[in-house]
Amino acid sequence: MNHLLKMLDLSKEEIIDILNLADQLKYEQKHGIKHHHLAGKTLGMIFQKSSTRTRVSFETGMYQLGGNALFLSSRDLQIGRGEPVQDTARVLSRYLDGIMIRTFQQKEVEDLAKYGSIPIINGLTDFCHPCQVLADLMTIREHKGRVEGLKMCYIGDGNNMANSLIVGGLKTGMKVSIACPDDYRPDQEVLDFATGFDGFEVTSDVLKAAADADVVLTDVWASMGQEEEAEARKKIFAGYQINGEVMKAAHGDAMVLHCLPAHRGEEITEDVLEAHADEIFDEAENRLHAQKAVMVKLMGR
Ligand code: CP
Ligand code: NVA
Repeated sequence: MNHLLKMLDLSKEEIIDILNLADQLKYEQKHGIKHHHLAGKTLGMIFQKSSTRTRVSFETGMYQLGGNALFLSSRDLQIGRGEPVQDTARVLSRYLDGIMIRTFQQKEVEDLAKYGSIPIINGLTDFCHPCQVLADLMTIREHKGRVEGLKMCYIGDGNNMANSLIVGGLKTGMKVSIACPDDYRPDQEVLDFATGFDGFEVTSDVLKAAADADVVLTDVWASMGQEEEAEARKKIFAGYQINGEVMKAAHGDAMVLHCLPAHRGEEITEDVLEAHADEIFDEAENRLHAQKAVMVKLMGR
């Protein structure tokens, strides 16, 4: 594993390896055991979109690993004024030991990896959000003791989260059902990957998707970059919500996850979010531990 560009690139073994290391790093951090695996190393963090969790967890994680992190807003970088990614990649490779990038097009992340010579970590694109899904799998394992054989149900937009959950879930032996409007299904590349798995289903029927689910997830109806569609999407996605009725269809002890930020009353009700706050904020915390594991795997050699 040289980069983390998308879940499709990882094998089941690589995913489990990251989750195991994340558990260990979490244990060490909680017990005050130093783990300076990246002493003297620097991570550059390029942000073309907003972030709370990704920025703070990468920056803090790098500090806890003994290294440094640089926040690089695209508003200030020459990349924001049109400097090609091929050149940016080659220049930054001369200074840094790794780059985390959050941007729009998946191709930009793939190009950074192609032209640069240091590990690249995808901190979210329109196509996927692998760091989030590693944290989600870690949280499921923590609360349920396993992931294999469990049913995951995702309700909402077939977006970057849906794409990554499908791949991460299926690769680790979960059943995955997706409820979304017909015109907002996950990417074809992901559907092509998923068709080979028995436990995969896409439907527009929310309660059918949620039936007997062990984990129920959702995400915003309008992602970053879709702000102008937000009002129209409220109508299109009405009903694609985690609420009491959905939780009744799911398994009695089903957990709820949300990558956050959440819009209460849209994709999730206030009641469900608050009833599952422990799980959801463990999930947010686990971004830190899962990403530290990714950085150690990629930059620790
Ligand atoms: N879940 C997530 O990636 O959060 P941020 O957008 O705050 O980084
Ligand atoms: N789908 C959301 C995820 C935010 C973490 C977005 O891309 O804005």
